[in-house]
Amino acid sequence: MRKSVARKLYIAAKLCVMAAGILASSTAGADDDLMSAARQIFKPIPSIVPAVKDNPITHDKVALGKALFFDPRLSASGVISCNTCHNLGTGGADAGPRSVGHRWQLGSRRAPTVYNAVFNVAQFWDGRAADLKTQAAGPVQASTEMNATPARLLNTLNSMTDYIVMFSKAFPNDATPITFDNFAKAIEAFEATLITPAAPFDQYLEGDAYALSAQQKAGLKLFIERGCSTCHNGINVGGQDYFPFGVTERPITSLLPRDDKGRFAVTKVPSDEYVFRSAPLRNVALRPPYFHSGQVWSLKQAVGVMSEIQLGAKLNDTEKDDIVAFLNSLTGQLPRIDYPILPVRTDTTPKPSMDK
Ligand code: HEC
Ligand code: HEC
Repeated sequence: MRKSVARKLYIAAKLCVMAAGILASSTAGADDDLMSAARQIFKPIPSIVPAVKDNPITHDKVALGKALFFDPRLSASGVISCNTCHNLGTGGADAGPRSVGHRWQLGSRRAPTVYNAVFNVAQFWDGRAADLKTQAAGPVQASTEMNATPARLLNTLNSMTDYIVMFSKAFPNDATPITFDNFAKAIEAFEATLITPAAPFDQYLEGDAYALSAQQKAGLKLFIERGCSTCHNGINVGGQDYFPFGVTERPITSLLPRDDKGRFAVTKVPSDEYVFRSAPLRNVALRPPYFHSGQVWSLKQAVGVMSEIQLGAKLNDTEKDDIVAFLNSLTGQLPRIDYPILPVRTDTTPKPSMDK
């Protein structure tokens, strides 16, 4: 195995072994041990909106960001909004396997969820955007997604009085409130509100031993002892670091298309070939298909794939069912989203275009 990756796995594994040690050593009560081990590895989702860097979150900014998130007129075709591919009604992702964008073009990867994305170390399967603000600048311009230019976007926003008002309220100290940067900031602010607290697992981490069923506890124990939590840990049960997709065995080509080398495209370091961000597993039961290639539709099968290719271990049927039961305890309370009424277009609003 590659050296830097081996070291990282070693350190992460140590944490995990420590936790597993606590599980095995004490006779104080297996249930208490499991809870204290889990508390060392994972963190609950907070119930209040987290702060983001250099972008104070205000009510007006969130309201603007929400309108932008749902507005298809920000795409060249007038058909595609952020919500098209990150549907808030279907776990914050699309129906998969890969996102369909401008002129029915098929993207190369599955859309990750926007729920709790604010807690990931960086954005995208390969972590190429440092934060949500940087990320939001991408899709409007991407030719396979919304296919607009910053100029077209600003024209669109400036053409509608309600947007002019909303931007000035959201950015009251700016001489020119409608800018591409502020567009991205407003979206980031809205996305920071897309958190899903109070999952049974959060209640458990906060001390309620009855929040998980016996089967879910068995699954959690396996998840820690078998080493899943080496890579899937922290607040999002993943999303914190990068690992090879295929540690002990290379996934079949349909799961790992060979032309997508993952993090290598970002760092150009050979050891980063086929390395991806460990997927955040919050609400994972809500959004099949799985993996960046979106080819696995069953969570049980995804668990089986992971144990074989990441850990070199075969889980039996009961073990897989237990882990799936645990993963189901990661489904939190989704925020209630009222569909926004969007600003009305005017004569100067750019007309939809299906051009390439
Ligand atoms: C055509 C479909 C499509 C549209 C439209 C789209 N996205 Fe995405 N989005 C994706 C795909 C696919 C990825 C993953 C790409 C990758 O990893 O290379 C992604 C990644 C993301 C991520 C990263 C999440 C994570 O956990 O890494 C965020 C956040 C996001 N999009 C927000 C937005 C916002 C905001 C908009 C609107 C401005 C938007 N997206 C429009 C398909 C889309
Ligand atoms: C060596 C690190 C590592 C280990 C160990 C590991 N995973 Fe993963 N996991 C990843 C990475 C990286 C991905 C993203 C793969 C990709 O590019 O699609 C992932 C993806 C997943 C997914 C798909 C999520 C989604 O949204 O598509 C599930 C489910 C999952 N892992 C569960 C598990 C379970 C259960 C175990 C233990 C049996 C485990 N993982 C062990 C690194 C790991």
